[in-house]
Amino acid sequence: MTLGAVRASDAAERRVALVPKVLSSLSKEGLEILVQSNAGQGAGIDDDDFREAGARIVSEEEAWGSDIVTLVGPPSDEEMNRLTPKAVVIGFLQPLDAPSRMARLADRGVTALAMELVPRISRAQKMDALSAMASLAGYKAALIAANHLPRFFPLLTTAAGTVRPANVTILGAGVAGLQAIATARRLGSRVWGYDIRDAAREEVKSLGAQFVELDLEIEDMQDEGGYARALMAAKAEKQVELLVPHLANSAVVITTALIPGRKAPTLVSQEAVEAMKPGSVIVDLAAASGGNCTLTTPDEVVMHQGVQIIGHTNLPSTVPADASFLYARTITAMIGEFVRDGVFQSNFEDEIFKSVCVCHDGQLVHERVLSLIKSASS
Ligand code: NAI
Repeated sequence: MTLGAVRASDAAERRVALVPKVLSSLSKEGLEILVQSNAGQGAGIDDDDFREAGARIVSEEEAWGSDIVTLVGPPSDEEMNRLTPKAVVIGFLQPLDAPSRMARLADRGVTALAMELVPRISRAQKMDALSAMASLAGYKAALIAANHLPRFFPLLTTAAGTVRPANVTILGAGVAGLQAIATARRLGSRVWGYDIRDAAREEVKSLGAQFVELDLEIEDMQDEGGYARALMAAKAEKQVELLVPHLANSAVVITTALIPGRKAPTLVSQEAVEAMKPGSVIVDLAAASGGNCTLTTPDEVVMHQGVQIIGHTNLPSTVPADASFLYARTITAMIGEFVRDGVFQSNFEDEIFKSVCVCHDGQLVHERVLSLIKSASS
């Protein structure tokens, strides 16, 4: 079977789904590796690097015609038409954000595995691409905030005087939030973390940050999958209000709160932004999912009464070398799980396969995606 890596058509996407370091283990699975010419350019990997690692450099058409196609973002309509029926497609497909696109993939007759749907079980940890990317995003968010802030992060004592450390608040203390906390702490700022899952409290404190306690009267909001559940509307409104005085006292706010398959919860209102001091910075990591701040505009820096609101939608792509390496490792682990003797084997008895497989044999097979499509049409 051939395994192809295609070049992202979105110019802002610098990652690639395979890197030279993973090719030997894929070849050992009996796969012939095809890489679209210049697919690794954005990540600093040239065609010769892939060639030396055993790949054949091919045209766009040949790469998309592979038996297994690996990609970073979801294919466009035009790209879908290049897939051969019966091909296997593996990548970030945005199945819960764009379920109708999954229906079009099903129509192509391909088997599609979405990396976003990897279950949170021990056996699947090596395939957890979302967490790997979230770590990079959290790290980069703290650096971007420090770069935009017209002040130091750390305490600085000089002969001319002492500069107090910056107050940094991270809303949402999952994988990205904890990495943002750790990075902001390493830069010397005073850090607070906040989340609605009880487990996050100890994790925030273990990184040396303080936990923001809100008088919200809610139970633990963690679901059986480890993700957060959405707050009821009244509690969500109260949460936004209770956060205002805390945010007013923060020079930097990094927001990372997500609820899978839904619009990101609003945590930072216009009132909160206006309560912050001019020069303060908000980095909204939920910008691609509607934003945690009501003033966020995706991929723009909005200035509101002297506060900068930064809405990057793809921070992992700004660390393309490491992001591609980690992503390629998770893709390789997924392929290693389902390719036997050079042949891809669909296995609906397997918990991981059942969780990630969105369509198969011309049919949408993922219950969550099916119910999203159903509720959109009713
Ligand atoms: P995520 O990216 O879906 O959401 C980010 C954070 O936002 C979460 O911590 C969530 O609780 C929080 N959040 C949602 N709504 C909020 C609100 N209204 N207010 C404040 N915070 C809110 O979640 P992520 O980062 O993927 O992981 C969540 C948890 O799952 C973490 O504890 C992580 O350690 C755990 N996890 C477990 C894995 C495993 O068992 N294999 C793998 C990856 C993560």
